[in-house]
Amino acid sequence: MTELRSSQWYGGDDRNAYIHRAWMRRGLPDSAFTGRPHIAIANTASDLTPCNAHLTEVARSVKNGVYEAGGIPLELPVVSLGETQVRPTAMLWRNMAAMATEEMLRANPVDGVVLLGGCDKTIPSLLMAAASVDLPAVVVPGGPMITGTFRGVPLGCGTDVWRLSEEVRAGTLSQDDFVRSESATIRSRGHCNTMGTASTMGLLAEALGTVLPGLAGTPAPDSRLLEGAHHTGRLAVELVTADRRPSTWLTKASFHNAIVALAAIGGSSNAVVHLLAIAGRLGVDLTLDDFDRIGSHVPLLVDLQPAGRFLMDDFHRAGGLHAVLREVRDLLDPSALTVTGKPLVDHLGDAPIWDPEVIRGRADPLIAEAGIAVLRGSLAPDGAVVKPAAASPHLLRHRGRALVFDSIEDFHARVDDPDLDVDADSVLVLRGCGPKGYPGMPEVANMPLPKKLLEQGVRDMVRVCDGRMSGTAYGTVVLHVAPEAAAGGPLALVRTGDIISLDVAARRIDLEVPADELARREASEAMTAAFANPRRGWERLYVDHVRQADTGADLDFLLGPTGSAVSRESH
Ligand code: FES
Repeated sequence: MTELRSSQWYGGDDRNAYIHRAWMRRGLPDSAFTGRPHIAIANTASDLTPCNAHLTEVARSVKNGVYEAGGIPLELPVVSLGETQVRPTAMLWRNMAAMATEEMLRANPVDGVVLLGGCDKTIPSLLMAAASVDLPAVVVPGGPMITGTFRGVPLGCGTDVWRLSEEVRAGTLSQDDFVRSESATIRSRGHCNTMGTASTMGLLAEALGTVLPGLAGTPAPDSRLLEGAHHTGRLAVELVTADRRPSTWLTKASFHNAIVALAAIGGSSNAVVHLLAIAGRLGVDLTLDDFDRIGSHVPLLVDLQPAGRFLMDDFHRAGGLHAVLREVRDLLDPSALTVTGKPLVDHLGDAPIWDPEVIRGRADPLIAEAGIAVLRGSLAPDGAVVKPAAASPHLLRHRGRALVFDSIEDFHARVDDPDLDVDADSVLVLRGCGPKGYPGMPEVANMPLPKKLLEQGVRDMVRVCDGRMSGTAYGTVVLHVAPEAAAGGPLALVRTGDIISLDVAARRIDLEVPADELARREASEAMTAAFANPRRGWERLYVDHVRQADTGADLDFLLGPTGSAVSRESH
């Protein structure tokens, strides 16, 4: 083992080493400061992040594992983002959480880190931080909650909230019954139990090689999660001893495998921006087009909401991620390594499918070609994405009149107006929801359908937005349009009544307005007025430096590897 990083603080007999040791002793023996790896446990547990509140117990198991392997565990509370609580959107704070975690890992005397996350933005921000600081690191995904039921029917949190609220608006469910379902939705500790962003990113953290093999997807209340956390603590010490850092396994090959996994599990479209951002921190050359090139022909094998029927509890019971990856093993890059030092494919063994209703075999996919499709055209010169697995097949090729909303507030004010000039063929356009415009790129793109169309039985329409949609949502929604309206993209110039054409097979999204007519147009005043123009603080920094969705919406000065070196002492 090379000299420990923590020895730069604790080694020697000078005044500064005295200070570093003295304040940290608090019962620790001398041996704690001589040659034992100091392992931070970056913990996103918070009462205001309900999906992660149980991570304090998980941290105890990690600590036991670290001690057992001869290390010193040190819990480090880090910025935590509760998806359902934080306004204006948790995504506004993802880069802040990543930057704060990176800086605290670099600033402190630690040799390695165990990252505890769960709720949507927490695992992405932790991975971005780990990629930047490049200390030996491993993730424990907090795991999904177990399935709740209402009147005998399973509830998928997120997906069924959207569905039930649409039923209320359509008049097929009473308001009372809707509210009664509320206490049944969240049945246990853990994150959302659909194949939403939290489930997706936990599984992709493992597909990237950064989780103890076989652990991702373990439900939060399952005692095997604590056992896995214990083993992860041991593994963290081994990583330091072997000097195995994220940059050694987070390569283009591991992102290739994450994209294959994303398609095969029917994962969240949000994973596109998160994977691009993580790759950007490493200097890995990952592009939006890689998602289409690598993932679009991968079969969807997992029948989970929102694309299908089941929930994460079922997924784990049916064999979990390894059972899925074994089915698409030939599509994986065999050279991609993991946190164990071995290739991902070596960990798949003969992982069986225990329930072929939940995880389909390769010969019987839910959808033959299901990955994220990347669209370009006159409406999205730098790209947009659509998730065919969550869309209606009959809308994947469509032409319709645009109905434009200049902000989400404008949308809410008008969508249920009985006089709204809209029909099932209309294309709903919502702008001002990109990284700069909102700011923070919220999950508003899956606009609820106009009430009068719901009452006619319409359940899906083509929608176009420069924002994101919840990973638990569904519908034919063109997302992440780049450049966004606030950055001068053509989306700013669309007028109600313009024709928009979508052709997913041809990978096109076009505004059928002549170029000379577009050149004469200016962005509407209502839209420009709705854009955020923060005066101070993080929002100002964010708006000035955030990049567009097609490159991961990270801050421009956080790109590329930075490392863990600190050159100056504190006293
Ligand atoms: Fe936390 Fe869904 S709200 S994962």
